[in-house]
Amino acid sequence: MAIEIIIADITQLDVDAIVNAANPGLLGGGGVDGAIHRAAGPALLEACRALPQVSPGVRCPTGMARITSGFALPARYVIHTVGPVWRGGRAGEPALLASCYRESLRLARSRGIAGIAFPAISCGVYGYPPEQAAAVAIAALRDDLREHGDLRVLLCCFDARMAAVWRAALSPA
Ligand code: APR
Repeated sequence: MAIEIIIADITQLDVDAIVNAANPGLLGGGGVDGAIHRAAGPALLEACRALPQVSPGVRCPTGMARITSGFALPARYVIHTVGPVWRGGRAGEPALLASCYRESLRLARSRGIAGIAFPAISCGVYGYPPEQAAAVAIAALRDDLREHGDLRVLLCCFDARMAAVWRAALSPA
């Protein structure tokens, strides 16, 4: 299974698509969302603003994904997905997080994308415990790749501590 853990700034990756850990409004924010918008340039915000609102102020519901060009980024596409805010684990967070990975891969395949990089969705501002997020994400990715065919998947951690957590989840001792 072509899942690789790397430590990098996702905005620097020369891959077909990078995934953005966005919020439902898709109009930017902090964390990786802010970094991607800064690196992609203002055209990314314009493209996101042009996406239809499915309800007032919501362009991408939690667990779903949207795709835009990458504009000034090395990556050709940005797949924006909205992870769940951690509320203790009994509000459907694992299923919603798994859906972010599945929906991102579904969109990637629809565009013939062969390589995709994910940040640690929901593991920052949204407070998802990294160990639990990693287990959910890797299980969802493995199931999807087995069922729908292989893609090159990079799990892009921003620091060594996070990478250690994800590496442990990828190949438990
Ligand atoms: N490259 C790779 N990973 C990054 C980068 C980067 N340049 N910048 C931050 N990260 C990591 C964080 O360290 C964290 O592990 O991305 C992970 C996700 O953290 P957040 O960006 O805070 O995303 P999330 O927890 O999903 O919260 C989403 O934060 O920025 C806002 O608009 C966003 O409201 C949304 C919320």
